[in-house]
Amino acid sequence: MNLILLGPPGAGKGTQAKWLEDHYGILQLSTGDMLRSEVASGSELGEQAKEVMEMGGLVSDELILNMIFSRMKHSNYKSGCILDGFPRTTPQAEALDKMLVENDIKIDHVIEMRVDDEAMVERITGRYTCSECGMGYHDSFKKPKVEEVCDNCGGIEFVRRADDNTETVRSRLSNYHEQTEPIISYYGDKGILRSVDGMQAIDEVTKQLKRVIG
Ligand code: AP5
Repeated sequence: MNLILLGPPGAGKGTQAKWLEDHYGILQLSTGDMLRSEVASGSELGEQAKEVMEMGGLVSDELILNMIFSRMKHSNYKSGCILDGFPRTTPQAEALDKMLVENDIKIDHVIEMRVDDEAMVERITGRYTCSECGMGYHDSFKKPKVEEVCDNCGGIEFVRRADDNTETVRSRLSNYHEQTEPIISYYGDKGILRSVDGMQAIDEVTKQLKRVIG
């Protein structure tokens, strides 16, 4: 099964992708995570992406397409994947369609997570992750069961993303409305678009996803 999760920064794509991975046995492919790991490694690709990401802009389509397509063709993803953060522009959606036809791959569901912009600022500025295993948390909405200890791996070090500040979030939200929202109708026209209410609590959003996917 192949899924696309669509939604603005903070909508809960990464949070729900982790549950989908465990439940359906398919892997998450997050272009944001891939870019952050390129930046951390100091690669040429990371150098090209770093400044744009820190300003809340979108990395070039060419760079993204090269990066994601080589990963999607890897044998780990033959049984399917969850695309998180891709496609994000109409040229990316069109290039993905072409690649899918050429490789005989089908997208089963495109799921839009509907949320309000103002709530996303609070979600993003309160977000942090475990440095060991990457498990995501939130200052108000998802605290570790034992304070400052990761539920998943017992790690005690946590990190916050460089682009998770109020100013950058606003620029990311505005880019979403201008450049990513048009692809919602692109997939609506194809008849594979579904929506969930991303303003509900995390567990409730998960239940909605389960109902949509089956
Ligand atoms: P990326 O990493 O994709 O970031 P994003 O789309 O901005 O999305 P986020 O990861 O911030 O949000 P999310 O929806 O995953 O929310 P989460 O589940 O963490 O991209 C980063 C940058 O890389 C981009 O700005 C761009 O520069 C570049 N880039 C990436 N892909 C690109 C592409 N295709 N083309 C061009 N450039 C690209 O949840 C947020 C917080 O809220 C968490 O703390 C969570 O615990 C909490 N939470 C989640 N759900 C709920 C809920 N229902 N109720 C309460 N709290 C919740």
